[in-house]
Amino acid sequence: MMKRVLFVCLGNICRSPTGEAVLKRMIQENNLSHLLACESAGTAGYHIGERPDHRTRAHGEKRGYRFDSLAQQFDPKKDFEAFDLIVCMDRSNLQNVLRLDLTGKYRDKVKLLMEFAIDASNLEVPDPYYEGAEAFETVIDLCENACRGLIHSLAR
Ligand code: 4NP
Repeated sequence: MMKRVLFVCLGNICRSPTGEAVLKRMIQENNLSHLLACESAGTAGYHIGERPDHRTRAHGEKRGYRFDSLAQQFDPKKDFEAFDLIVCMDRSNLQNVLRLDLTGKYRDKVKLLMEFAIDASNLEVPDPYYEGAEAFETVIDLCENACRGLIHSLAR
């Protein structure tokens, strides 16, 4: 059975496109495209239609990741039904998504990405937008760890 995963952050230009790029590569490398698919979205609409942040692309492309989607805003009318798992980067993103689930019907689909990580000391992927290069590297490290766990938990 195909599982669909949506990565969610605030702007959909830094963290959630990184999660999407990392998981897409793992899906491809592990021949799991019949089992797993993913996209990303932001809870805010400021950057709709934009490519990922140039720093996200620069750091990710150095590790061989490809960024091929444009920013879109989380759409409660479609996304709660369309996705099996909605993984949020931080607790603020999680609260923003849960607030849109007016009846609580989709509560169990909404999680923090880092819940899937191996030995995570922090359950949040920190917002790198106002930070330096190191913060963008950390986002990729955290996404790689969590996506490995996510693949193990979903692809069986
Ligand atoms: P993201 O990072 O949520 O990881 O995409 C941000 C991108 C843009 C803004 C904040 C965070 N912003 O304030 O425009």
